[in-house]
Amino acid sequence: MRVFVILPAAGMGTRMAAGSHAAAPKQFLSIGGVPVLVRSVKAFLDVPRVDAVCVAVRSSERERVEAQFQEFRLGPRVHMVEGGDNRQESVGNALAALECDDDDVVLVHDAVRPLIDAGTIERTIDAVARHGAAIVGLPAVDTIKQVERTADGAIITATIPRELIVLAQTPQGARVGLLRRVFAEAAADGFTGTDEASLLERAGVEVAVVAGSARNFKITQPGDIELAEFYLHQAAVAGAR
Ligand code: C5P
Repeated sequence: MRVFVILPAAGMGTRMAAGSHAAAPKQFLSIGGVPVLVRSVKAFLDVPRVDAVCVAVRSSERERVEAQFQEFRLGPRVHMVEGGDNRQESVGNALAALECDDDDVVLVHDAVRPLIDAGTIERTIDAVARHGAAIVGLPAVDTIKQVERTADGAIITATIPRELIVLAQTPQGARVGLLRRVFAEAAADGFTGTDEASLLERAGVEVAVVAGSARNFKITQPGDIELAEFYLHQAAVAGAR
């Protein structure tokens, strides 16, 4: 059983545009001197069981990404494919390009979650090997409300017991054959999901959940780069103790 990783990194980062880091999509911003995408790739390369990492990027970003990969010496386990118009298309392009067997494991990870740790990656691989499909999810700590959107904002329609809720993070993974099948079914039905699990769920596949952490957050809005630097600083201080 080999392990492959897909990093969709072809987003435009439009939610970031209003902030102080307007120049680049968020996956190319720097955290402590290292680009977000490079940090994400390295996190997976640090896990010896990972055979290869496939990054989906826009063709206009290819040169920039190649230069970053060389500068940080990411080595021959990293490959690139062309991204698509949405996350699902980017992942689909990478999934089609993988040279692997149906029972190999593939994990998909948002390029903009650079603080994923080796332990969580290992536990996700193990859960996919055991259950066929698994994602990282963060248990909800806030009380969760269902709402109806109104012209003024929203009105609460129900309270959902928070013990029934996890917030979907990544990595999200499955056996390659299974993920390829649900991607093909989604394409045939014209369904576009915001994560891999939604494609697996609609096909009736049981997806296991591995505990995530607040640290594995998605760089989304202005201030998130500083938050990531804070987490890294905290980890460095704890390591020096
Ligand atoms: O936009 P969102 O934050 O959901 O993006 C999640 C991940 O999907 C990011 O790493 C982003 O670069 C990637 N993405 C992609 N292709 C797109 C849109 C998003 O690879 N067309």
